[in-house]
Order: sequence, then C-alpha cells, then structure tokens
Amino acid sequence: MDGMCLTEHQERKDDSNGGGLVGITFGDVGTTMLQCNICTPADKGEYVMIEHSTAGTVLGRVDSIERRTNVSIEKAMELSEGKDVEIEESMIGHIHIIGYRDQRGLLKLPSNPFRAGEKIYFAQEKLIRDVLGLKNDDTGAYIGKLSGHDIPVNLNINSIAQKHLSVLAKTGSGKSYTTGVVIEEMMKHGVTMVILDPHGEYASLAKPGKVDESNDFGVYPRGYGEVITEFSPNPEINPGSRRLSFTFKNMRPTDLLSMMKMSKRKSNVSTLESAMSRLEAVKGFFDIKDLIILLKKNEEDDVSSMIRNLEDLDRKGLFTDKGTRMDEIVRKGKTAIITLKGTPPDVQGFVVNRLATALFELRKRNKIPPMILFAEEAHNFCPQQGKIESSEIFQTIASEGRKFGLGLGIITQRAAKVDKNVLSQCNTQIILKVTNPNDLRAIESSVEGITKDMTEEIQRLPIGEAIISGGGLSEPLIVDIRPRESQDGGASIKVV
Ligand SMILES: Nc1ncnc2c1ncn2[C@@H]1O[C@H](COP(=O)(O)OP(=O)(O)OP(=O)(O)O)[C@@H](O)[C@H]1O
Ligand SMILES: [Mg+2]
Repeated sequence: MDGMCLTEHQERKDDSNGGGLVGITFGDVGTTMLQCNICTPADKGEYVMIEHSTAGTVLGRVDSIERRTNVSIEKAMELSEGKDVEIEESMIGHIHIIGYRDQRGLLKLPSNPFRAGEKIYFAQEKLIRDVLGLKNDDTGAYIGKLSGHDIPVNLNINSIAQKHLSVLAKTGSGKSYTTGVVIEEMMKHGVTMVILDPHGEYASLAKPGKVDESNDFGVYPRGYGEVITEFSPNPEINPGSRRLSFTFKNMRPTDLLSMMKMSKRKSNVSTLESAMSRLEAVKGFFDIKDLIILLKKNEEDDVSSMIRNLEDLDRKGLFTDKGTRMDEIVRKGKTAIITLKGTPPDVQGFVVNRLATALFELRKRNKIPPMILFAEEAHNFCPQQGKIESSEIFQTIASEGRKFGLGLGIITQRAAKVDKNVLSQCNTQIILKVTNPNDLRAIESSVEGITKDMTEEIQRLPIGEAIISGGGLSEPLIVDIRPRESQDGGASIKVV
C-alpha cells in the first residue's frame, strides 16, 4: 500500500481543484466513518472525496489524524538518548462522511458501506460547495469564507430571521465585530432591525471603516448612515441620537420602584398603588408630574424620599406626554439603534421590556413590518437565574416570534447565563472562541449537530474564525469572518 502511496503522491493536491490522493481506506469501513492511511500530509478538518459503488462521489472531512508507531518504551528511551533505532510508523486518518446530493438535491448518506481499498482524494471545490449547500448567490448574508478555501459562505437571511440567531463567545473574541458583519448584510438586503446596544458600539455602522482594499474577501469600505437612526434615553451623553421616551401609561408601581432603586416592600407598593388608582379615577390619563403633586399633598405618610426619587426620575426625561412613537423607531428596511450607554441597569431593564413588548404586540397585529431584534449582552435582559422585567417577553419572542415575523438575535459572552429557554430556540449559532466549561456545556446542549471534536475546536479558535451552525447550512462549518465594511465600534483600547 505504501508503494502505491508513493507513486500516487505525484498527484498531490493541485490547489483549489482538489483531486490529489489523500490515502486508501482499510480495516472496518462504515457508511458514516472510515479510516485511511495518510499518503499526503492532510490537515484535520480538510475536505476529502471518495467514490461509493451506488452513491457516486461522496464528501467527507478529516476528523482526526494519528501517528501509529511500533516504538516501545525501551525503544523510546533509546531514541531519547540519541541512538539509531529502526521504527515503523504510519499515519491514520479518521474520515467523517458528510454525504452527497441526490437527484432531487437532498443531502444523503450512502445506505451501504464503502469498499476497503477505495482511494480518498482531496475534495474538489465544486463538490464542497454542492454538498455543503454553499451557493454563490447574492440573496444570502455573506459572512465570510469556508476556512482554508476560497468559498464564500452565505447564510440564509430568512432562516436567521425566522428561527433566531445567537452569537456566543468569551469577551474580546469578536462578537460585536461579527454581529456588525451580520447586520451590514441585513441592511444590504433591506431587513428591518432594532438593535439594543448597551455600550454604544453599533452607531459606528453608519460610517465607512478602514478596510485594506487588497483583502481576499472582496470587501470595500461602506457606511450605512442612510438606513440607520440612533435613539437613546440619554441623548446628552450620546450625541447624534434622538431622545427615546415613553408615556407614563400602564406604569406599574414595582417598575417605578426598581427604576428608583427603592425597596419593593408592601408599604412602598401600596403608597404608589393607591395614589395611581386615585389619579386614574379622577383624571383617566396622568403623568409622573401628576403623581408627584398628589404625593406632595399626602399629609399622613412620610413620602418625602419617594417624592425626591420621582423628581429625579422625571428629570431624566424618560417619560414624556407622547413618548417616542414605535412607527418612528421601526421603519421598513431601516435600522434603529437603541444606545443604552449611560443608562442605569434598572432603567435599561424597563426600556428593553417596554420596547420588546411593544414590538411583539405590534408585530402580532401586523402594525410594523417583519423584523429582527438584536440584543447585545443578552444575559442582562434574559438571565438564566433570577427573573427580571424583560425575562418573560424574551421567552415569548423566542418561542412565538417566528409565527409573527419577529426574529431575535442574542449576543452574549456568557452562554451559561442566558435563559436556556431562549438560547435553545436560536437555530443559527455563530460561535467564536469560548473557554469557560459552563459556557461550553451550555453551547453543547443548545447547538444541534455539534460534535465533541468541535467543542475542542471552539476553545482554540483564533480571532476572526467562527463555527457557524444553522442559517441554511447543511452542517456546522468553520468560517473565516469577512472584514467589516463599516467602522468597528468595539475596537479594543490600548493601555500603552
Ligand atoms: N474578524 C475580525 N477581524 C479583525 N479584527 C477583529 C475580528 N473580530 C474581532 N476583531 C477585533 O478584536 C477585538 C475584539 O472584538 P469585539 O469587540 O468584537 O469582541 P467582543 O467579543 O464583542 O468583546 P466584548 O465581550 O468585550 O464585548 C476588537 O479590537 C476587534 O476589532
Ligand atoms: Mg462586544
């Protein structure tokens, strides 16, 4: 067999066309896994092809490679002392069979085993494209290239929008950068979006970035200012944003108390409850100023600290007579960035809950166009532990959003800290480097088709590479993320 390898070696992989010999199958041969001797150095993850008696040419992937030797402990000792030792060794590759496309274009696995002695070749790019379903069309979201190949990876936009997306990685691994790439593609295809942006990283999508124009991805600088509007509850700290405000209607005493960082003890709740129901009975509609005036008239209880806190809240400008109209925020084919930089966490919780609830209700009644809601630092809005204001609406959108054309994009550095009911509904996953064992477990349990091998891979992914599953792909792939067209708002700050 080795002699055969040496002569066939001349056929060494001829770059993009594939075709060179990798090795020859031997031993027990199955329909989904097989092993071969390695004639030509091949890398783990490399795509290969093999003929099958009935299925035709089938695509596989090198899952692992091992070097088998006859080196005993004694021989190893002699080797380490620099002695000449005769050793026999061979390289064995374990091949995972991905399948072939049948006449109807469906991905199939052979129904009976391959033959031992069958040659395995480096796969041709056309076969890789066909079997993995990597179509070269411009209706998808061009996210990058298949790692090690010049094959663009386009994700299916409808599949992302209908069945939700998650972007998972440890801090500094490129979540915001990669989400920016996804959002650029969505904007290019006229998808309506709302982005919840706690750190103010996404407004920079409006400006063209500094892209090296000789990049291999065919990406040119482009800003998306014409489709983006930025809103913020704090336009003072976020210049360029419009004020985001709400009416005082339907406010709950407990929401007010948490925004004022006051205890939700019975006496506080009932003070607010009775004042608010009196106002409702007398005035129908009332605002925060009416509530303050009424409490000031209250002579029995000491409510001075509550009045002070309500006045502070009023000064923040979060409540106005009309509030920001939802049809001003959600416009067909446009993107609204909700910058929450400088907004205290409790107020963020209220803002996110109000917005997400309104989006869901309006989508249900078809009052706004089908859209995607992106949430950065989603563990803060739908945590696994503890219930907060927005927990319920995120669960509802995750489970029912698909029916009503409201997609969710969950971005988090702590997969384990996001509500599992939400994470498990995300059918497209973009996973960058993760090392925390709890987060890896959460990913393993929520991502379909992820193998032990891939979990290992996730811990070693360099910046710029991601494992992507779903989004219309037939199986999880390692992708080199394309450069950003627009400015990267999350670039790390150098200390020196
Ligand atoms: N594909 C990429 N190509 C080039 N640079 C990248 C890429 N992905 C990330 N970076 C760079 O890596 C750094 C970290 O990226 P990013 O801010 O997106 O990480 P993050 O996971 O969102 O971090 P955090 O958890 O702090 O929000 C940034 O300086 C960014 O410019
Ligand atoms: Mg980030």
